[in-house]
Amino acid sequence: MPIISQILGCGSYLPENFLTNDQLAEKVETSDEWITARTGIKRRHVTRDDEYTSDLAYEASVRALKAAGVKAEELDLIVVGTTTPDRTFPATAVMLQSRLGMAGGAGFDVQAVCSGFIYALSVVDGMIKAGTAKTALVVGADTLSKILNWEDRTTSILFGDGAGAVVVRGEEVNGAAEPQGILSTHIHSDGNLQDLLYCDGGTSMNQKSGFVRMEGQEVFKHAVKNLAGVVVEALEANDLQPEDIDWLVPHQANKRIIDSTAKKLKMPAEKVVLTVETHANTSAASIPLALDAAVLDGRIKRGDLLLMEAMGGGLTWGAAVVRW
Ligand code: UT7
Repeated sequence: MPIISQILGCGSYLPENFLTNDQLAEKVETSDEWITARTGIKRRHVTRDDEYTSDLAYEASVRALKAAGVKAEELDLIVVGTTTPDRTFPATAVMLQSRLGMAGGAGFDVQAVCSGFIYALSVVDGMIKAGTAKTALVVGADTLSKILNWEDRTTSILFGDGAGAVVVRGEEVNGAAEPQGILSTHIHSDGNLQDLLYCDGGTSMNQKSGFVRMEGQEVFKHAVKNLAGVVVEALEANDLQPEDIDWLVPHQANKRIIDSTAKKLKMPAEKVVLTVETHANTSAASIPLALDAAVLDGRIKRGDLLLMEAMGGGLTWGAAVVRW
């Protein structure tokens, strides 16, 4: 009997502190007008010095488990998509395992920068279908604020901190015509483009955590092209037309990039979940944060067809089609 990975519930968490564009304009030469026009961002949440990625991941996970009606003891797998782990090792996922009180199973992190949640979902879906895991927690959590050069206006205005999580369980399809769950995932990378978006620190290279470096315009062009390609790939794999999709749940890097993907799909703005204005780019957290926002406010309903897509450093990119 074929197995499908059903998403039983989601949750998210944003740190309390936030910074507005005007506050940023006091630190670097920028303006609310420029940031709003070029990115759609108005503010971003930022962790305190003593608040870590695992703290955000924990809060989001507790909410996701509650929404799913699942206890931590029922989990046999935790995969966290993150680029900003608390420590070089161990993985954020094992910290989460301990804090949630999950005794057995396995936990590990996936590092695919802003595509981290799609990558983690893809890995977990594969493990569930292979029978390696039954009930999994998939988390996207990042604190990019900790690796930003706050004097660099080309990067510091773009990112924020946050976490989102989903609880996934393998269920037999049982001949359902429209099974609920992850219908397909699609992941890609091109390491030849690594110099367009990277962190200049690293354990092996210079023993520093470093700062984000980005060729913004080039990344923008690749994002538009790669995302247009991967959403078509995802639709074709499921024999779907763009109009079959109820909600586009995109990575929230830049409203102009999201608009371009929506335009390619001829999707009206009402079908696009947008959080970039108040969340900014929260890297691996952005898709589950947007998903949770739209589930909580009642826009996304059970049975709706969702298309998620992301692109990030690597370059990495990917998409997932989910029947909620
Ligand atoms: O998560 C996935 C990875 N990230 C992305 O997807 C980000 C992709 N890139 C972008 O979103 C855009 O390229 C940015 C928002 C980063 C930049 O927007 P842009 O329209 O590509 O601007 P630009 O880099 O071409 O810069 C235009 C001008 C430049 O001035 P000159 O050369 O025209 O005089 C910049 O120096 O804007 C200047 N500029 C700024 N001005 C005010 C750059 N950053 C700022 C700033 N405030 N923060």
